[in-house]
Amino acid sequence: MKQKVKIVIDGKSIELPVLESTEGLNVVDVRGLINEGMFTYDPGFLSTASCDSKVTYIDGDKGILLYRGYPIEQLAEHSSHLEVSFLLLHGELPTSRELNAFESSINENMKLDEHFKKIFDGFTSNSHPMAMVCAATAGLAALNHDNLDISDSEYRLNAATQLIAKIPTITAMAYRKSVGKPFIEPSADLSYAENFLHMCFGEPRSKPKVSKTLSSALDKIFILHADHEQNASTSTVRMAGSTECNPFAAIAAGTAALWGPSHGGANEAVLDMLIEIGEEAKIDAYVEKAKDKDDPFKLMGFGHRVYKNFDPRATVMQSSAHAVLEEQGAGDDPLLAVAQKLEKIAREQNYFVERKLYPNIDFYSGITLKAMGIPVPMFTAIFTLGRMPGWITHWTEMVSSPFKIARPRQLYLGSQSRDYVNINQR
Ligand code: CMC
Repeated sequence: MKQKVKIVIDGKSIELPVLESTEGLNVVDVRGLINEGMFTYDPGFLSTASCDSKVTYIDGDKGILLYRGYPIEQLAEHSSHLEVSFLLLHGELPTSRELNAFESSINENMKLDEHFKKIFDGFTSNSHPMAMVCAATAGLAALNHDNLDISDSEYRLNAATQLIAKIPTITAMAYRKSVGKPFIEPSADLSYAENFLHMCFGEPRSKPKVSKTLSSALDKIFILHADHEQNASTSTVRMAGSTECNPFAAIAAGTAALWGPSHGGANEAVLDMLIEIGEEAKIDAYVEKAKDKDDPFKLMGFGHRVYKNFDPRATVMQSSAHAVLEEQGAGDDPLLAVAQKLEKIAREQNYFVERKLYPNIDFYSGITLKAMGIPVPMFTAIFTLGRMPGWITHWTEMVSSPFKIARPRQLYLGSQSRDYVNINQR
């Protein structure tokens, strides 16, 4: 029998239908409540499903993350970021022919127009990479606006291809701008992650030299970040996209949302925090600060809105971090020692255990990216690069079916209606 939820408003009993999920919690359908003259209240969406989706499933209590039903651990071990991107976009793993065709179309679309690159001239070398990535992604809307038709599946697929193909180039350009070096073109012979590393750290007109360990660790980082259901940035993409705006602009909005330290900016904030702590002797003082209710300081890289168990992405990241640290000879980096001790303390103390504050992916990705020689301000831009297939898949999923503009309501607590008072009478 279908479940129903009964609520009583002023003595009147109302039945609300329950929508059944294929995995995880069912959802009370409150859409009819407006007819009873009432809204629901849930700031921060703690108990609210904002949409239905077939893309990604998370069980935060068990530490499970599935993309289109496939466990993240299996994808990280056996797949590649472009294969995962195809899976997210199309719902099924590709055949080898489909994968080859997808990889080729991404590779062919990586280059940016010569005049478009001038967008970076407007920035100084100390501009934050996320500001540059956000602006350049929004700028792509200008190149993809005349033929805008979100109801056309070909337009949607082309938008997805353009975004997944161009985001490594844009991100690498933001890096090259920040170090005052000339841009490097993508190479047809390199994989997605290799191309990104080559465009960041290669020499113009020289044969690409990219470490396999680093490119495969980076590809894994991209896979682990590729989607995470209705997080703040994905919800932002959906919300902006629900106005039927240009999808490149919706993605730029998502990029802005990702930047904050409570979300994608945490990987950068983790490193800033480790640098600030600096030595093992100071760890206890910082842990006490994090526990102090009157101090806004939080241990960056710990806790998650959904995971109340180990973040499964962090488990994969932790082991791939070791391979990178070994290759880079960074095992004796003092920041690593601070990170390891901090993790141990946080996992033993009651405050963190009771609140289920486990290390999240950003805790380990920050350490890995640092060992790879990637500058700290670039970390969130790399998260953006990895998250691109997830964002564009969610946008595609939303606009492919009937949808409504996202328009939340509010609990108004301001002044009641009053008359305007002339300035000389106030
Ligand atoms: N350090 C110390 N205390 C914490 C932390 C932390 N990192 N995170 C949460 N708490 C405490 C919080 O003060 C609260 O305590 P109390 O119950 O006594 O009031 C309790 O734990 C519950 O926290 P919350 O703020 O209600 O949880 P939330 O779901 O609203 O926030 C979060 C989740 C990720 C924003 C938060 O844990 C946080 O700010 N963590 C640090 C930033 C971080 O690492 N963010 C990356 C998240 S993973 C990447 C991604 O998916 O975007």
